Amino acid sequence: MASSVRPLQKDEDRTSFRSGDADLDHFFHRYAGQNQFRHRAGVTYVYEHEARIVAYITVTAWTIESDILAVVEGRKFPPYPLPALKIARLATAEGERGRGYGSALVAYACAMAFKMSREMGCVGISTDAKRDAVDYYAARMLPGQRWRLMAASALGVSPRTGLPYSAG
Ligand SMILES: CC(C)(COP(=O)(O)OP(=O)(O)OC[C@H]1O[C@@H](n2cnc3c(N)ncnc32)[C@H](O)[C@@H]1OP(=O)(O)O)[C@@H](O)C(=O)NCCC(=O)NCCS
Repeated sequence: MASSVRPLQKDEDRTSFRSGDADLDHFFHRYAGQNQFRHRAGVTYVYEHEARIVAYITVTAWTIESDILAVVEGRKFPPYPLPALKIARLATAEGERGRGYGSALVAYACAMAFKMSREMGCVGISTDAKRDAVDYYAARMLPGQRWRLMAASALGVSPRTGLPYSAG
C-alpha cells in the first residue's frame, strides 16, 4: 500500500477532503494553495495513502518571545524574538482517524524543525492549537525537549499548571 508525506501540489483537487472541522476544511479547500504558492506564507504537507489525501499539516516560519521561553526553560535567552517552526493547522479525514496519520505528520514537522535548528536556527515548535488538542500535541513532541514546551508556551499556559512537559 503506497503511502507518503509530500508537499501539496499546485491545483490538485482537494475538495473531497473532510475532517469534520469546518474551519480546517475551508482552509484546506480554499486557502492552502494560495497560502503556499502565491503568498509563500506557509507550506501544507499531505499524507497520501493509496492515492487519497487522508491528512494534512500546514507549517510556517514563526518567532517566539524570548521572555516566554526564559520562563518555560528557567534560563536566559537573547532579548529578541527567537526563530521557531509553527504548526498552523493539522487535520485527519473523518473515517481515517486513529491510524497514525496525524502522529506521522507531527513527527515530520519535528524532523523539519530539528533540521532548521541545525541549518538556520530554530528554538522549537510553536502552535496555537485549540485547547482540547494540546494533549494530542504534547504527547507527540520529542520527549523531554523544547519541542513540547513550545506547544504549551505558545498557548500562554504557565509551566506551573502541571501540563505534562519537562524542561529539556
Ligand atoms: C487531532 C487529529 C489531527 C488526530 O489525527 P489522527 O490521524 O487520528 O491521529 P493519530 O492516529 O496519530 O492518533 C490518534 C490518537 O490520538 C488521540 N486524540 C485525538 N484527538 C485528541 C485530542 N484532541 N487530545 C488528545 N488525544 C487525541 C486519539 O484518541 C487516538 O488515541 P489512541 O492512539 O490512544 O487510540 C484528528 O483527530 C483531527 O483532525 N481532529 C480535528 C481537528 C484538530 O483537532 N486538529 C488539531 C488542532 S488544530
